Amino acid sequence: MNEAPIQIVARDVHKTYELERVRIPVLRGVSLEVRRGERLAITGASGAGKSTLLHALGGLDRPNEGSVRFEDIDVYAMSAAARTEFRAQRVGFVFQAYHLLPELDVLDNVMLPALSRPGALGRVAALRERAKALLDRVGLSHRLHHRPVEVSGGEQQRAALARALMNEPAALLADEPTGNLDSATGRQVLDYLFALTAERAHTLVLVTHNEEVAALCDRRLYLRDGVLQS
Ligand SMILES: Nc1ncnc2c1ncn2[C@@H]1O[C@H](COP(=O)(O)OP(=O)(O)OP(=O)(O)O)[C@@H](O)[C@H]1O
Ligand SMILES: [Mg+2]
Repeated sequence: MNEAPIQIVARDVHKTYELERVRIPVLRGVSLEVRRGERLAITGASGAGKSTLLHALGGLDRPNEGSVRFEDIDVYAMSAAARTEFRAQRVGFVFQAYHLLPELDVLDNVMLPALSRPGALGRVAALRERAKALLDRVGLSHRLHHRPVEVSGGEQQRAALARALMNEPAALLADEPTGNLDSATGRQVLDYLFALTAERAHTLVLVTHNEEVAALCDRRLYLRDGVLQS
């Protein structure tokens, strides 16, 4: 693991929210290096800034100061449009609340990130096969044409995991992926998450408040007072 190249580098990242002229400093100089294929857990109290940090790492939310490099890309030096393309191509996100589109069935939800990529229309059949294979891998072959409301929370999160992997991202960023699930169902989702990321050597940055879940990762960092501690 230690020989793997550094993939994600955050340097002195600061993020302050401003609400009705009240400034809320959340990240106060976060620096971090993540190696390719590493599984890193980030823990911390509610409100510590874990989601804020994950969003900054994945190109979803610009820090006020500092930089984020992802492989050879300076994430916040590019245009918003280029960053959207970067995210679609390089980063998979899994959120606590699944965020599947309610009007699409499970298969179409998983295919969606690939369908919006250039040249996708000529490859729909191949993309459908890939989405089906991913859904099979997370045990959802029998739920392809169910809509999100017609499957359980654990099944929705497994579909969201398949969706996050659809474009073969370099890194998977997961924000409390089991936060809405009971512990047995959550454990099952985590088993899939770890198995799939290991199989494909995806980097995993996993935000969790659960110490047992954090212990499953290669490394764990603690976010407190706006900085990361080991
Ligand atoms: N868009 C926003 N505008 C203003 N304040 C925000 C915004 N997003 C987050 N905050 C504030 O920033 C702080 C950190 O929020 P964040 O969501 O990153 O915490 P967290 O560690 O993910 O918490 P949790 O464990 O509850 O998910 C909180 O105090 C929150 O209220
Ligand atoms: Mg959060």
